[in-house]
Amino acid sequence: MSGRKRIAVLGGTGNLGYGLALRWARAGHEIAIGSRSADRAQEAAGRIGEASGSSDVTGMDNATAAQWGEIVTLTVPWAAHDATLETILPSLHGQVLIDTTVPLKPPRVAVVQLPEGGPVAVRTQALVGDRARVAGAFHNIAAGLLTSGAVIDCDVLVTADDPETRRLVIELAGEAGCRGLDAGPLANSVVPEALTSILIHINRTYRAGHAGIRITGIETCPDEPPSD
Ligand SMILES: NC(=O)c1ccc[n+]([C@@H]2O[C@H](COP(=O)([O-])OP(=O)(O)OC[C@H]3O[C@@H](n4cnc5c(N)ncnc54)[C@H](OP(=O)(O)O)[C@@H]3O)[C@@H](O)[C@H]2O)c1
Repeated sequence: MSGRKRIAVLGGTGNLGYGLALRWARAGHEIAIGSRSADRAQEAAGRIGEASGSSDVTGMDNATAAQWGEIVTLTVPWAAHDATLETILPSLHGQVLIDTTVPLKPPRVAVVQLPEGGPVAVRTQALVGDRARVAGAFHNIAAGLLTSGAVIDCDVLVTADDPETRRLVIELAGEAGCRGLDAGPLANSVVPEALTSILIHINRTYRAGHAGIRITGIETCPDEPPSD
């Protein structure tokens, strides 16, 4: 770990956020679970603290968690995306905001249905403006893998409009037990956002639980990602 970070996980009471928070707590970061309800957040934080052995996991409402975090991770369903961002907008002050949102539209979640206007991550950056540097990541990692404690052999495609933000989130992906890969600018988030529906289809077709992706033909990430 290159440095201990304060990471807020909004929606960390749910599946993906819980798994990421657990992994990052185990890696030694300070974690704040965010929720619409501070009570629910504290309850989830207690479970994560117990499971990770960390005494640095706390729970608070989403806006307070976003204010506290150096890194803010958004893990809420697409239907709650814009409303959650509106809630935390005044709390953002230049942090990195990791958006994990896949624009699924139940019940047809195994069919790609991207929103008009482009990828969610691009929309997020437009909504927050210069209040945060947005990265898209973790769209293709099953929450169950993160919580299982298993070794994860899936890649995380990381997008952001500046290489420094991508580098930071690639490192955080590594600390969550995944291989993070530099996937270029936020506009490229359209691919991982769409891929999730295909993975859901594959899970159903092959009765798999945790289908993921692996990019072949590379050994390690470059030290200096190219500028876009
Ligand atoms: N689950 C996965 O394996 C997985 C994998 C890759 C990406 N993703 C993406 O990660 C995001 C979170 O997925 P998830 O499965 O973790 O979701 P989830 O468990 O259904 O929900 C996460 C949290 O979001 C909050 N939430 C739920 N509905 C809400 C609403 N209507 N308004 C405001 N907040 C609401 C809840 O927190 P509070 O009630 O405590 O506020 C909930 O605990 C999604 O965008 C999903 O596409 C998930």
